[in-house]
Amino acid sequence: MLDLVIRGATLVDGDERATVVGDLGVEAGRIVAIGQVPGAARVEVVAEGAFLLPGAIDVHVHLRSPGHPAKEDFATGTRAAGAGGITTVLDMPNTEPPTTSPLRLLEKRRLAQAAARVHFGLYLGATADNLDTLLALEDRGQPPVAVKAYLGASTGSLLFDDPGRLDRWLADSQTLLCVHAEDQRLLDRAADRGDVMDVRGHGLRRPPEAALAAVAIATGLAHRHGHPVHVCHLSLARELELLATSAAERPGLVTCEVTPHHLFLSDLDLEALGPLGKVNPPLRTAEDAARLREALAAGRIDCLGTDHAPHLVADKHGPHAPSGIPGLDTAMRLLVAEVLAGRLSWARLAAVTSGRPARRFQLVGKGALQLGADADLVLWRPGPAQALEATELHSRCAWSPWLGRLLPPPPEAVWIAGRLLAARGRIVDDGVRGLEVRTR
Ligand code: DOR
Ligand code: ZN
Ligand code: ZN
Repeated sequence: MLDLVIRGATLVDGDERATVVGDLGVEAGRIVAIGQVPGAARVEVVAEGAFLLPGAIDVHVHLRSPGHPAKEDFATGTRAAGAGGITTVLDMPNTEPPTTSPLRLLEKRRLAQAAARVHFGLYLGATADNLDTLLALEDRGQPPVAVKAYLGASTGSLLFDDPGRLDRWLADSQTLLCVHAEDQRLLDRAADRGDVMDVRGHGLRRPPEAALAAVAIATGLAHRHGHPVHVCHLSLARELELLATSAAERPGLVTCEVTPHHLFLSDLDLEALGPLGKVNPPLRTAEDAARLREALAAGRIDCLGTDHAPHLVADKHGPHAPSGIPGLDTAMRLLVAEVLAGRLSWARLAAVTSGRPARRFQLVGKGALQLGADADLVLWRPGPAQALEATELHSRCAWSPWLGRLLPPPPEAVWIAGRLLAARGRIVDDGVRGLEVRTR
């Protein structure tokens, strides 16, 4: 007898194949049957009228462990992910201490294994002198899920502002390099612009030129070495143009991600949000956001990355407001709203949030509704939109720039390796633990 059968849902694959209505059977954490699944299972789910997707993969989160448990940790951050339909998170290295050595990877792995309610992968932070560390991990067959380089400083101490050195990283290593694309030299040049007390001044101090210069550096290096590079959190229509030029030359070499805040907020929201809207890269124009939404719907953006960056509201309103916006609780509901409004297809949503991230980060068993794939599944049932309330949030930072926004209901059910973790926005089995992703 199978462990679980979900019956009669519209099955949305991560590979943009035509959707079909059918059943899906699960045993021992894997998908073992698709189509008509006869016979009763231990758990039967009636899913007619709902959409079953492979669990979303968020390729960019900051869960603040180790270092800032008051803001977030692996338990709270992954509850937010799971309740919102994200079943795998890739955690960034700008924790305290930063994840820059094998020992620190191991320490973070222990924290995650003990507490993560969804699957996880861990980035290694690139520094001026830890390329050898990466090469040793690669030699041992234990590379990090990806490497992160901050071409401009953001939250935390990691900064890699020497393109010459980056050249060596790309020449010598194999691992996917992800970049925070703001060029520190141009940030320095703009450092005295604008009013420091006004969040709009933040946008002047982190201008579009800094992002464009960094994207040009990153794509130039990728092409020179034929090395895969991933550009984090696009914020500008002009970045899309640079990436289109790169793709015309060599498709798939340089990929990109977009955050919910750069899709669904703009500098027009800064007046209402104040320092809550301070983020790196900054919120740009409404036109940029519209172009990013178009690009997402057209398949020109590869991945969802929430850049979930929990900071406490008190800190955000303090004298040196940190940059960052939380997004794990809300990202998928914002995107499903686009689907229900007819601006995005279910197939494209599944591709951008699971199929393509799984392929780009080479995650074994993820991103597909296929026989043998991991049974990380999310069931979405369209329902009346409701205004987002703070009580719905699982992130410890407990705020969202979208409070009050009309959003579709959270997923009806979320399974991690076949175990029901969350239903209708609530954690129903807090004993579920995710596993570290394996890469090919
Ligand atoms: O706004 C940001 N916050 N951008 C980043 O690059 C880092 C993040 C954080 O960790 O707070
Ligand atoms: Zn970043
Ligand atoms: Zn980030």
